[in-house]
Amino acid sequence: MLLFGGESSEHTVSISSARNVFAALDDTKFDIYLGFIDESGRWWLLESFDQISDTQDQVQLVPVLGAKSFTTIPNGRFITPSVILPILHGENGEDGTVQGLAKLMHIPIVGCGVAASAVCIDKVLTKQLLEQSGIKTVPYAVHETGEPMPSFGKLSATLGKTLFIKPARCGSSVGVSKATNDEELATALSEAHKFDSKVLIEKAISARELEVGMLGSGSSVKTSGVGEIRPDSEFYSFESKYSASSQSKVIIPADIPTELSETIQSIAKSAYMIVGGEGLSRIDFFLSDDGTLYLNEINTLPGFTNISMYPKLWRQQGMSYSGLIEFLISNALEK
Ligand SMILES: Nc1ncnc2c1ncn2[C@@H]1O[C@H](COP(=O)(O)OP(=O)(O)O)[C@@H](O)[C@H]1O
Ligand SMILES: [Mg+2]
Repeated sequence: MLLFGGESSEHTVSISSARNVFAALDDTKFDIYLGFIDESGRWWLLESFDQISDTQDQVQLVPVLGAKSFTTIPNGRFITPSVILPILHGENGEDGTVQGLAKLMHIPIVGCGVAASAVCIDKVLTKQLLEQSGIKTVPYAVHETGEPMPSFGKLSATLGKTLFIKPARCGSSVGVSKATNDEELATALSEAHKFDSKVLIEKAISARELEVGMLGSGSSVKTSGVGEIRPDSEFYSFESKYSASSQSKVIIPADIPTELSETIQSIAKSAYMIVGGEGLSRIDFFLSDDGTLYLNEINTLPGFTNISMYPKLWRQQGMSYSGLIEFLISNALEK
């Protein structure tokens, strides 16, 4: 079952990824159920992507715990996928919830399990865990809904003249903005709090953005080469990620010394092991202008269109887009 959409601020991004994945799946090898989660969190069994806009007369999917199946409303038919391929991003999809449901349904699911997903969706928890093992992440503070408005001056004394404000548990740069004074900080916090009660305030790093793909589980984990993102705007915003007119560039391999590339790969692998990564993840770094390397975030369900960084990193290793998807499915079935 290709599961996509989702009750998340990244709903539309998930649909784009899923369309590409569906087109690449070999229908002589797989019978594919399209499991669509609408923005209100209801699950539907679609016959085609055309039905996304109007689920009114479609068949609803209801999980049957412990029975490896869904039942349908209407008709009460049993749907028994052998594996779930979650092409979901953000809340209620990338955060361990769907992974937990699949576990209770006894259906294998591609990618990370409950704990790794839950930790990595939360940028604060990820930092706390990685820093304990000596992996450097960007200096930060946390602001929770209801707490007093922090003073820019005080934050700036430890975090520098420009701050990056972002929801702790979102992706796709939703709700992310910069602040250079009290007024911008207030606006940035209220924007980020639209998406999350927990907000991260980070030191702005002037940096190159380098990313690595992890594939597989346990002792057979593979690490891709390092790729670089060159955003077309002052940071890698939602528009510079997804707008049709985006001039952002993905450069694979990144033009960096071999030794640095190996360091990044080795930190990425350690981080994947620490969080208990399985199946796949894309691990993103900042290489600051002064040469400091920071691990920015771990994406357990990275962007998956055929031009996204993650599949491109594997293409560079000789693995086609459909070959990658098939590998992920067999990895989940072996688990
Ligand atoms: N501390 C920071 N300093 C500089 N740029 C940042 C910082 N944090 C985020 N950014 C920019 O914002 C983008 C989105 O932030 P990120 O932490 O990757 O969240 P998301 O999960 O939304 O991708 C990054 O790719 C980068 O361009
Ligand atoms: Mg990111």
